[in-house]
Amino acid sequence: MNQITVRTSSKTYDIFVGRGLRNDLLTYLNPIVKSKNVFVITDSNVFPLYFEEIRSVLQEGGYQVFHTVLPAGEEHKNMQTVLSIYEKMATAKIRRSDLVIALGGGVVGDIAGFCAASYMRGIPFIQIPTTLLAQVDSSIGGKTGVDLSAGKNLVGAFWQPSLVVIDIDTLKTLPQIQIKSGLAEIIKSAFIADKALFQKLKDSDHFERDVERFILSALQVKRHIVEIDEFEKNERMLLNFGHTLAHSIEKYHNFTGITHGEAVAIGMYCMQRAYEKKRKLQQVSDDIRELLIKYEIPYQLKHENLDELLEYTKNDKKSTDSGIHLVVIEETGKGVILTMDYPSIFEMIKGAADEICV
Ligand code: GLY
Repeated sequence: MNQITVRTSSKTYDIFVGRGLRNDLLTYLNPIVKSKNVFVITDSNVFPLYFEEIRSVLQEGGYQVFHTVLPAGEEHKNMQTVLSIYEKMATAKIRRSDLVIALGGGVVGDIAGFCAASYMRGIPFIQIPTTLLAQVDSSIGGKTGVDLSAGKNLVGAFWQPSLVVIDIDTLKTLPQIQIKSGLAEIIKSAFIADKALFQKLKDSDHFERDVERFILSALQVKRHIVEIDEFEKNERMLLNFGHTLAHSIEKYHNFTGITHGEAVAIGMYCMQRAYEKKRKLQQVSDDIRELLIKYEIPYQLKHENLDELLEYTKNDKKSTDSGIHLVVIEETGKGVILTMDYPSIFEMIKGAADEICV
């Protein structure tokens, strides 16, 4: 078992990472809770796999367990779902001293975190992420929220969890496509801040054996960035590498048929390649493409989508009056944040269309 402590201005909390940790939940939970009432938020994918086990562990520890099961999928990450959860929490008489438990992937974590951030003006919550994507990214750092029809994550709050328990064994039930989605975020961490992780990913010939090391490295990247810039005034924007195009790609596909990680992978390669083409460089984009090909993650856009996709980037919440904060990689392991206006971004991407589109 590995322990990583995250120290932010609003909260200090531990992340525990290891195999089978869901069975040891009480060891991590008991020291941090004030009440014996917990409200578990999970979804229809995770409920049949892990809920009963978690409930019996909690009940053995003397906890009274309330729960709700959300329909799985990004399309349910909205205010209607949040409202229905508030009602259930109120019916269960959940109070400020009680605890919300997010059991699931990124969608569950984001919604549960937002409910915890806003119900009774904020109650504690913990994350038990069961997807690779949630384990390496969304379960830590305190970004919570839901989507609007205008775009992803447009309503939300920064609300740090009180504990994150990462049981790597839950990856055994995760479909390959979701493993790749999380892997894309691990690859992102390598390019923005960890050259050694890039090398590990490149050299690895046994993903299941090495995944714990990859997770720990990605968590260290995220911990460091969140500690120095919890509220995304500056360095935290680095975590958005690949996300400008990714959010547009996801929206273009109506959040179905492509995973977040696949969209991030395409976003990372295409933006970096376009940037390097404009600067007459070509190094990091080759490294990105090499890793994405190795792990069989898509990296190219489709020609016919390009104009519509670029229009969607204008709704990005990272946009400012002068354009958009764009992350590019100066050298492997070193991301930088640029501000660029839309015409320049569109021109840059279109200038590389022949190489980044199929
Ligand atoms: N997923 C990006 C962040 O937490 O800032």
